[in-house]
Amino acid sequence: MTVLAAAEAFLEANPSYRATGKLDELRATDYARLDAQGQVYLDYTGSGLYGVSQVERHMVLLKELVLGNPHSANPASSIATELVEDARRAVLEFFKASPEEYVAIFTPNATGALKLVGEAYPFGEGDHYLLTFDNHNSVNGIREFARARRARITYVPLTLPDMRIDEGELWRCLDLARPGGHNLFAYPAQSNFSGVQHDLRWIERAQAKGWDVLLDAAAFVPTNRLDLSVWHPDFVSISFYKMFGYPTGVGCLLARRSALARLRRPWFAGGTITVASVRGDRHYLAEGERAYEDGTVNFLSIPAVKIGLEHLESVGMDLIHERVRCLTRWLIGRLLGLRHSNGRPVVKLYGPAVLEGRGGTVTVNFYDRDGKVIDHRLVEREASKRKISIRTGCFCNPGGGEVALGLSSRELIRCLPSSRDRLSLEDFSMCIDGKSLGAVRASLGLVSNVADVEAYVDLASSFAA
Ligand SMILES: Cc1ncc(COP(=O)(O)O)c(C=O)c1O
Repeated sequence: MTVLAAAEAFLEANPSYRATGKLDELRATDYARLDAQGQVYLDYTGSGLYGVSQVERHMVLLKELVLGNPHSANPASSIATELVEDARRAVLEFFKASPEEYVAIFTPNATGALKLVGEAYPFGEGDHYLLTFDNHNSVNGIREFARARRARITYVPLTLPDMRIDEGELWRCLDLARPGGHNLFAYPAQSNFSGVQHDLRWIERAQAKGWDVLLDAAAFVPTNRLDLSVWHPDFVSISFYKMFGYPTGVGCLLARRSALARLRRPWFAGGTITVASVRGDRHYLAEGERAYEDGTVNFLSIPAVKIGLEHLESVGMDLIHERVRCLTRWLIGRLLGLRHSNGRPVVKLYGPAVLEGRGGTVTVNFYDRDGKVIDHRLVEREASKRKISIRTGCFCNPGGGEVALGLSSRELIRCLPSSRDRLSLEDFSMCIDGKSLGAVRASLGLVSNVADVEAYVDLASSFAA
């Protein structure tokens, strides 16, 4: 199919896409560098892309203002404090989080937000950390805090081929909360491996059974609205560069005030206390978000968060969501339609083939005509030659990868020696002989278009024989 014919067929199948034309205009102006350089960007789950106007607005602000370290009374400090607090209010408003219920804590990234929760969650012996199999490593890593404090760790498995959670199994696990104890349940609102969007109704159900809920929203919020006046997770982790590309180095932990009060910070730092004494050997933590923002916040970049949020609002989250939905449906259909001349499929999809309960992250492996997997590294090299940015490997989501690629606990344990504290990926790969250790991920976002999808389909077709 030519790109033109594909575009026509696409529009016929997705009439609602026409209403998202505003994003084509935006791409032609704010993101002109993409088409000027012939770049096909399909790694929005890795990072969003910024519009030039965001950077320009930020630069004007930096050029015009005299900004000093916040939280003093001097003029340069006061302006910086005002801008940081302004951005904080904008974040709460964007997610419709009531300031009476939630605080927004600025962190370096989503990982920083997750670590704040992990290190301060009051796990004790017999408490419980429950998490789904398809979490990012920054959520998996919290298990080491839980383990060190002798809490139980339970993973809820995924079912194939959709890579969703078996709800019956989840309800059974949720019944394992330690009565009166500290129980933390963590899951991604959208898996960065499979694109599966887990049910947000689990939040309330888990809380009713005695769990604090940590919702990792990093991969969800760039193309979906998260309304915290409807959903009330205890903790939410976010990286802003994933939402609107710029700035990097700023994320956020949205925490319910009531849940925050249960955390126990393991240390204090500059900025987090009201009083600390060396001779008196005491410290007193500040209130609310102040107690969790270690040292000087990124006060030059944080104002760009407000600009980024306004950028998304000016387009409209619903519009972005609809566009990504249409393109995802098209991409999956086109990939699954590819066949070798002997009738064998070229692509195996990891995750749901239908749009319901999934986002715009599409992960696959390519197979040759004999049904042998094509190494994902080769796919990435071929993509790069065509200026296509995709991601390959496991995407820091080992549980998702292990389930998708059929790696059993037994073979993994055999290849993960407990006698060593370092293991190279090469040694690990050699041990798991004969199986693919990675997959190929394309993810759609703000200014994706049909031509991007067709460029990827064209790459995929090149593997058909
Ligand atoms: C679902 C999810 N959670 C957490 C993270 C970690 O984000 P960061 O690397 O910005 O801390 C990512 C990054 O890819 C992610 O996709």
